[in-house]
Amino acid sequence: MDPDRYRAVLSRFVTGVTVVTTLDDRDGVARPFGTTVNAFSSVSLDPPLILVTIGRERSILPVLARTGRFAVSILAEEGQALSDCFAGGPSVAPREDFCGARWHPSVNGQPLLADALAWISCELERTIEAGDHTIHLGRVVDLSLGQNEGWPLLYWRRQYLRIEHAASVALQGKPDAT
Ligand SMILES: Cc1cc2nc3c(=O)[nH]c(=O)nc-3n(C[C@H](O)[C@H](O)[C@H](O)COP(=O)(O)O)c2cc1C
Repeated sequence: MDPDRYRAVLSRFVTGVTVVTTLDDRDGVARPFGTTVNAFSSVSLDPPLILVTIGRERSILPVLARTGRFAVSILAEEGQALSDCFAGGPSVAPREDFCGARWHPSVNGQPLLADALAWISCELERTIEAGDHTIHLGRVVDLSLGQNEGWPLLYWRRQYLRIEHAASVALQGKPDAT
């Protein structure tokens, strides 16, 4: 498999951008930790399950294994700088300081980023090894909509995409997708 071709083809699938967060309380000091993730999907409504796919080398992986819980913040287009920072890119605020992001705790104590479009709080149901990534299946314990009703941050062809014009069209197919 040619990695460039794999990336080029898969990058034609536009996604939103999330930050997966967890509260690391090792040594009695609570530290919020986050990483940018677009490999996010709804999975099941009953029971409510979502998944995020995290690379084996990502520093959040052992933290998630320890905490056993996480939250997903769905970024608005204004969240681009946070997306860069939580992906380890150049940033004004250091990533060690949670990228300077404002947050509040979810019902299960996980960090929810202020100004996100929506949040999903999960208990880690199980992990599935999948090549160079690990699928994290989360059992949803709480979810909520933010005050921000703006546009989402999008990711396409390895760059951010902003919605300039949008029209909503009634769905003709069977609306069974969650
Ligand atoms: C828009 C965007 C989406 C990303 N999606 C994922 C993803 O779904 N899974 C993943 O493991 N890494 C993803 N990354 C990369 C990680 O965010 C990045 O490698 C990680 O935060 C680096 O931190 P670390 O070196 O501390 O592990 C994405 C990066 C960006 C910019």
